[in-house]
Amino acid sequence: PFTPLIAPSILSADMTRLGDECEAVIDAGAQWIHFDVMDNHYVPNLTFGPPVCAALAKRLSASRPGIPIDVHLMCEPVDDLIRGFAEAGAASITFHAEATRHVDRSLALARDLGCKTGLVFNPATSLEWLKYVLDKIDIIQIMSVNPGFGGQSFITESLAKIAEAREIVDMVVQGTDREIRIEVDGGVKIDNIADIYAAGADTFVAGSAIFKTDDYGETIGAMKQALNA
Ligand code: DX5
Ligand code: ZN
Repeated sequence: PFTPLIAPSILSADMTRLGDECEAVIDAGAQWIHFDVMDNHYVPNLTFGPPVCAALAKRLSASRPGIPIDVHLMCEPVDDLIRGFAEAGAASITFHAEATRHVDRSLALARDLGCKTGLVFNPATSLEWLKYVLDKIDIIQIMSVNPGFGGQSFITESLAKIAEAREIVDMVVQGTDREIRIEVDGGVKIDNIADIYAAGADTFVAGSAIFKTDDYGETIGAMKQALNA
């Protein structure tokens, strides 16, 4: 696997202080900012759109340059939002395989707009969706909870899917300089992150496990220690 990365999900941050919260987790060792977009249609919850991303990207590019904003679309349809978030400074945009009529076209759109891109797999969704689009994918994002809320428990069956994704990725990148990340999202904690890493994940989204603790540095430090990173 590639260097493991910690990507705090701002869903559990104090929204009245979003910029400060992002700077605090970055100073505590976070490498990506995970930006959860919910539309009250694909998932039964509603968060934020491109203007919030643009404001955050502007602030972080000045205060903490080089930290990518990883946009996770839990929305349907996706194409207009891909345009909006690419414009708003997203470094990567992932969306759910079932949430667009034309998966290949939506992946190509995000790529053409200069973003890294990837598909997100719900707990019951098969990795079969990858088969014909792997050349357009930078991130395979495995949901280890049902999307829509922070603070849920890790679904153990996801470990088998992560291992399956790892086999696919190793086969595809072998002998090339391609990087395909395997990102795990939902219920990641200090005490299960090592098992998730052992299964083959390299990018760890964690919302409540980080933002609901008092000392972000201690929490992210403990996660990295569990990863030997
Ligand atoms: C769930 C979101 C996750 C969520 C993770 O729909 O995609 O990113 O915020 O939160 P925790 O880490 O609390 O499970
Ligand atoms: Zn997410």
